Amino acid sequence: MMKTYAVIGDPIDRSLSPNIHNAAFKELGLDCAYIAYRIPKGDLEDGIEGLKKIKISGFNVTIPHKVDIMKFLDKVDEDCSIIGAANTVSNNDGKLKGYNTDMDGFLEPIKRRNIVIKNLNALIIGSGGAARAIVAGLAKEGINTITIANRTKENAIALCEFAQKMGTNANSISLGEIDDHSSKCNLIVNATPIGLKNEPSPIKVETINQDTVVYDIVSMPMNTDLIQKSKKIGATVIYGYEMLLGQATRAFEIWHNTKAPYEAMKRAVLGGF
Ligand SMILES: NC(=O)c1ccc[n+]([C@@H]2O[C@H](COP(=O)([O-])OP(=O)(O)OC[C@H]3O[C@@H](n4cnc5c(N)ncnc54)[C@H](OP(=O)(O)O)[C@@H]3O)[C@@H](O)[C@H]2O)c1
Repeated sequence: MMKTYAVIGDPIDRSLSPNIHNAAFKELGLDCAYIAYRIPKGDLEDGIEGLKKIKISGFNVTIPHKVDIMKFLDKVDEDCSIIGAANTVSNNDGKLKGYNTDMDGFLEPIKRRNIVIKNLNALIIGSGGAARAIVAGLAKEGINTITIANRTKENAIALCEFAQKMGTNANSISLGEIDDHSSKCNLIVNATPIGLKNEPSPIKVETINQDTVVYDIVSMPMNTDLIQKSKKIGATVIYGYEMLLGQATRAFEIWHNTKAPYEAMKRAVLGGF
């Protein structure tokens, strides 16, 4: 019998996840389909009931439900419980289990480049759900230091405390202080939506060193202003689509218990731009 998968969120019409997973099904000849399903904030409980009724095999969760979904899960894996949010759910006879593949999805392109995480001093811009998964991942890998910059200072302080609880040397700054810190960091991550609407880079790229790794998790557009300017000065760049692909391949492997066809999934993402 055909198995059905979905991504739930709002808005959901621009999600690349259906392209990515359907390309993987085609590549491996799996009898599966993956759809985008809009569930507005406040309608999550009804939406989940609907998904259970159609015997959904698994689903991804995106804005605004990543934290709220936790209430509806019967079990969660370790990363999910550390982060307090889920982006991947499997359904076993009506029992839902949550995972957070954003964390490994973020780390995957760093590891693929053989960058040694223990040697990194990171500057993370943003303190939302994605930043929390990123901080948890970097802390788990034993990163040297993390500096967190955020528009709302209290949120930066809270995320900084989270990093410290995980045993990491962390401090928080305001957005205005970024340019004084950027030259001291060898990994800079934009974990805000800045760039999604072609806004200018949240940092002055002239202040960073050439050997810095600049990672923009905004996946659409692919070449944000931050990425373009970082490339110009010769920095190593990591694109948001790489994290998207990393979290999707991990989710695929959880659901299907087989190695994800990375290249086919990558072609599907790049075809979506
Ligand atoms: N590539 C991927 O696979 C992937 C995965 C997850 C997320 N993302 C992207 O990452 C971004 C953040 O996601 P999220 O889930 O962390 O969202 P979120 O929980 O809503 O957090 C958003 C963060 O960005 C800050 N922010 C929002 N608008 C801002 C602005 N105009 N100027 C400065 N700071 C601003 C917020 O600051 P305050 O605390 O002051 O509100 C908060 O720290 C989104 O664009 C999302 O699409 C990409």
